[in-house]
Amino acid sequence: MVQQTARFDDRYYRRFYGKGGAHDRAQVEHLATGVHHMAAWWGVPVRSVLDVGAGMGFWRDWYRTTHPTVKVRSIDVSEYACATWGHERRDIADWRPRGQFDLVVCHSVLQYVDDERVVRAIDHLVGATRSLLYLELPTRDDLRHLVDRSATDMEVFHRTGKWYRSHLELHLRQVGAGLWVPRNGVPMYELEAAGR
Ligand SMILES: C[S@@+](CC[C@H](N)C(=O)[O-])C[C@H]1O[C@@H](n2cnc3c(N)ncnc32)[C@H](O)[C@@H]1O
Repeated sequence: MVQQTARFDDRYYRRFYGKGGAHDRAQVEHLATGVHHMAAWWGVPVRSVLDVGAGMGFWRDWYRTTHPTVKVRSIDVSEYACATWGHERRDIADWRPRGQFDLVVCHSVLQYVDDERVVRAIDHLVGATRSLLYLELPTRDDLRHLVDRSATDMEVFHRTGKWYRSHLELHLRQVGAGLWVPRNGVPMYELEAAGR
């Protein structure tokens, strides 16, 4: 069942992605450039991308503009976002992607998925990741001590980093800077990746 749809409306995107919001297109363009080039450094060809909770579609647009041959699929639970920015309407907790993608992006999404459904959402992300997962979300600690409260949606699930790690690390190795790789995936030098 698709949930939380009314919350992610025009007002929401203007509030958090306008001037002084959580992040903007230019910042995501830097990030996407970095991730794509790190993949190249590891010899991982990025031919397919799944953008989960794509919102205004910054990642999808960057790939379309700079690497038009990369197949990008963008999904979002919000009716408004799908109609406005052209994503498939899916709820990552309910939808298990068929097949895998070289890069899966889940940028600032999992904090919106409730405790009952978030493990399923993580399983779906893991299952869809062939080579790299870019994952970003604020943990309880971040929400308490790090984020700018005026620019960040605080009405989210406040879970610890330890909690997220306990689920992610069953299948993935943390590289750093938001990147995770499948345990049987691209080999990393001991000091290259943060996790073992
Ligand atoms: C903070 S915005 C992030 C947008 C984009 N990823 C970015 O970083 O620019 C969160 C997005 O996640 C979407 N979302 C929340 N729960 C979701 C779910 N269960 N499945 C898919 N998308 C979801 C919302 O509709 C919203 O567009």
